[in-house]
Amino acid sequence: MEKKTIRDIKVSDKRVLVRVDFNVPMNKLTGKITDDSRIRGAIPTIQYLIDQGAKAILCSHLGRPKGQVEALRLAPVGERLSQLLGRPVKCTPDCIGTEVERAVSQMKSGDVLLLENLRFYPEEEKNDPEFARSLACLADVFVNDAFGTAHRAHASTVGVADYLPAVAGFLMEKELEFLGKAMADPARPFAMLVGGAKVGDKIGLLENILEKVNSLIIGGGMAHTFLKAQGYDVGSSSVEDDQLGFARGLIEKAARRGVHLLLPTDVVVAREFSAGSIHKTVSLSGVPRGWMILDIGPQSIKSFGDELKGCKTIIWNGTMGVFEFAPFRKGTTAIANLLASLDATKIIGGGSTVEAIAELGLADRMTHVSTGGGASLEFLEGKTLPGVAALLDC
Ligand code: 3PG
Repeated sequence: MEKKTIRDIKVSDKRVLVRVDFNVPMNKLTGKITDDSRIRGAIPTIQYLIDQGAKAILCSHLGRPKGQVEALRLAPVGERLSQLLGRPVKCTPDCIGTEVERAVSQMKSGDVLLLENLRFYPEEEKNDPEFARSLACLADVFVNDAFGTAHRAHASTVGVADYLPAVAGFLMEKELEFLGKAMADPARPFAMLVGGAKVGDKIGLLENILEKVNSLIIGGGMAHTFLKAQGYDVGSSSVEDDQLGFARGLIEKAARRGVHLLLPTDVVVAREFSAGSIHKTVSLSGVPRGWMILDIGPQSIKSFGDELKGCKTIIWNGTMGVFEFAPFRKGTTAIANLLASLDATKIIGGGSTVEAIAELGLADRMTHVSTGGGASLEFLEGKTLPGVAALLDC
């Protein structure tokens, strides 16, 4: 990696400010964490700091609060972290100020402290230099392990690096290595499987990836726009009419570049957008008027699968159908199971796909499951992530 990591600096007995991404999903009613993979992802860095006798001062955002929001306090995250580490994690009621400074001054080597939600201060997202300085004055060095937030130029991801030597943690390093290698030097054939709701959200990704892949497979809601661009009647399925030109252009460009572009050849349609709706599988020319596409069909699963079977590197971003509704998760489930069985580099990048893979219990069968949603998307678009750019070069 071209950036310095936690291995390159001395941390023992130092106060180390660690930006983690503990923005974890929580059940609104119970306040319980529903997926702790981002907390688990940060454990190697935190454990390393404990083992080295550093004082680990962790900071994160949770949600998008405007001011202080009780439901978005980090205490439940601290509790989970403490269980995972098997040692106490003290949570402070604020992230800057005298009380926090006192808590830091009382830390001993190997202690772990979790600061309160950074976004309780609007200055965090504004990358306010004074706020960044207040955070930085708590520590001697800065470790950024929050790959999931590396696309944000905030005080705790970029600003603090103006005041402290800044290096990558192990999770940041791993994410950059897997995603970076896949994009720069993939074992071929290289396929990207893209799904999810909207073409508009993934224009940058599709444009960038087309330059690199051998196969591009498009499913999920965004496929409707491509199917309409090819002249199919997609009934009342969601379509982005303003992206029809882009879709046609991409299909032509793929043909010119010799990229295999695969779209669904059959689909599961429903009368309404609900888990209980009546539904059936139809060919592309058979979408009934007023019905909507909610999943890919068995023929598409087969053709996508046949293409993927020959590939050595596969990146998957976006589900194939409406995974939240049991009758429309067959496409995503079948593709996930197929990937699990393949001997290839399999990278899962992106929020909804990651949740689906976790729910199916297949995360361990993938080469890398990214903890970044927006961040991995921007990385795959070829953008420089500000939180990475701020780190010291090797
Ligand atoms: C994420 O969940 O993608 C990151 O934690 C960033 O969160 P944000 O989109 O609210 O900045």
